[in-house]
Amino acid sequence: MAEEMLDLRGVAKPDAYRQLDDHIRAVLAGVRDDVAAMATMSALIHHAFGHLWTGFYRVVAPGTLLRVGPYQGTLGCLEILIGRGVCGTAAAERRSVIVDDVTTFPGHITCDARSRSEIVVPVLGRTGALVGVLDIDSDQVATFDDEDRQGLERIVHWFATESE
Ligand code: SME
Repeated sequence: MAEEMLDLRGVAKPDAYRQLDDHIRAVLAGVRDDVAAMATMSALIHHAFGHLWTGFYRVVAPGTLLRVGPYQGTLGCLEILIGRGVCGTAAAERRSVIVDDVTTFPGHITCDARSRSEIVVPVLGRTGALVGVLDIDSDQVATFDDEDRQGLERIVHWFATESE
């Protein structure tokens, strides 16, 4: 399957995310399973850009608790309270959060000390309920911008249309 992994470093972000979204949708064709989709998205996004950590936190107690799901990278924190850290803030407010410098984000939760910047995108299911969040960490400051937000929101829109 190595030939199935795209390397999009050096490709302009709008084009990179278009290619990545097409690729993810092709790999997931006929799949309806959230865990399979989260695992596939994590692997493909992570290796396409060479991120530090890429993965999902799932809502296990609505309004209260996120628990780690499929991811790529070093050991992730197992649970995050909704409202805490970058992930819990994105979940509580149901909006994408971009952090240019994690040292300036009050309550940032450090899982890997090399993390310098982060983006978290909410994942909504078919009913509009919050399923979880997609969290990506970079070892460089200010890695993520509005083009990443748009590209990643488009990728996780899969859960609103294709999920069971
Ligand atoms: N930094 C995140 C925690 C998750 S790890 O980065 C994988 C946060 O503040 O929510």
